[in-house]
Amino acid sequence: MHSFTQYMPTKIVFGKDTENQAGELAKQCKASKVFVVYGGGSVVRSGLLDRVTASLEAAGLEYKVLGGVQPNPRLSFAREAVKQAQEFGADFSLAVGGGSVIDTAKAVAHGVANPDTDIWEYWCKKQTVPASIPIGVVLTLAAAGSETSDSAVLTNEETQIKRGLSTDLNRPAFAIMNPELTYTLPKYQVGCGVVDIMMHTMDRYFTQTENNEMTDVIAEGLLRTVIKNGAIAIKDSHDYNAMSEIMWAGSISHNGMTGLGAVTDFAVHQLGHELSAKFDIAHGASLSAVWGAWASYVRPAKPERFAQFAKNVWGIENDDADAAGKEAIEKTVAYFKSLDMPTCFSEAAEIGVKTDEEVHKMAYGCSYEGTRSIGNFKKCDINDIYEIYKLANK
Ligand code: NZQ
Ligand code: ZN
Repeated sequence: MHSFTQYMPTKIVFGKDTENQAGELAKQCKASKVFVVYGGGSVVRSGLLDRVTASLEAAGLEYKVLGGVQPNPRLSFAREAVKQAQEFGADFSLAVGGGSVIDTAKAVAHGVANPDTDIWEYWCKKQTVPASIPIGVVLTLAAAGSETSDSAVLTNEETQIKRGLSTDLNRPAFAIMNPELTYTLPKYQVGCGVVDIMMHTMDRYFTQTENNEMTDVIAEGLLRTVIKNGAIAIKDSHDYNAMSEIMWAGSISHNGMTGLGAVTDFAVHQLGHELSAKFDIAHGASLSAVWGAWASYVRPAKPERFAQFAKNVWGIENDDADAAGKEAIEKTVAYFKSLDMPTCFSEAAEIGVKTDEEVHKMAYGCSYEGTRSIGNFKKCDINDIYEIYKLANK
């Protein structure tokens, strides 16, 4: 086990009707002027936004509401949100929605606290975020894990570049998680969420680090739980128990717990971000579209790890590590298919089969014009990235 520091400051308030505590929780964070961010309207239609603003009023807090965040949230919208929050004098940023809304609320928090800096500077790593205002979350979609993560992802739509920013200042002060709020999710978003939660775990689990038993057990248990309950949720998004398990797993999968003490990988996330930036495909679908190709390509770098995954996640008993690992990859891909998630480019309507030149361009983009490698299980340079995209291009 490698040395590590883990910081998990987010207060989690989990269960039915918890959204009615939003006002009191913000007040406990010394909020007086709350800037509320939401997405394309699902929270208006469900009545959730009204319940949240009523709770802010009951706590005696001023608030201003801004809707319109799109999936794969755009930098231009985040800049506009920062401007409006500054004019309002916000001292608290409250997200009511999924990962895209939360990440925009995180951008608002950093922008408001640093009015002289364009927020993209932080996402381009030209500057580190020196200070921020607190962030609160009312979660409506178990997927990105942003409700407890140290990360926020934005897309610069002018340059078609999607970037993540990691800082402890991205950790929300509180996360309200009522599984009933996810009942209205379309089946497609349930599938995307399950894939993303699995991927936050697998992008950490596939590591060369040895002797990390505690973390391995957390990761394997989480994967078994999500696989089992994902199969229930995809058929019935009103199953409280299944939606609860998935929601809680979503937070644990990305708050750091599933990779503590390990050198993590995250190559699949980087491969997926390039697809979302170029084709505006949903994040979860971008990951399932490349995972099988990535896994097949990197498996020989440590077949025993895939054999462990086979045994402890899929229950495959086979002393032949190669055969077990290959079977586990097949099972994982088949599981994604059972969720109606794409497992290669042709199954993703937004992407489709690409020419060889286009595949080269994608590898060029993902490798930041050939200047970086991705992943650690096997370090993948521009040539490896090209080979992986080529395998997915069917
Ligand atoms: O916009 P509305 O109308 O709310 O509809 C949304 C949106 O269309 C809908 N939705 C959300 N909750 C709903 C609902 N529809 C009905 N009922 C509900 N209860 O779902 C659609 C997708 O929402 P979005 O927020 O985009 O999904 P997700 O939570 O998957 O977030 C994806 C974004 O998060 C980033 C991704 O890259 C992507 O940009 N990520 C953020 C991370 C982080 N900050 O730690 C880590 C992740 O790896 C990921 O990269
Ligand atoms: Zn993700």
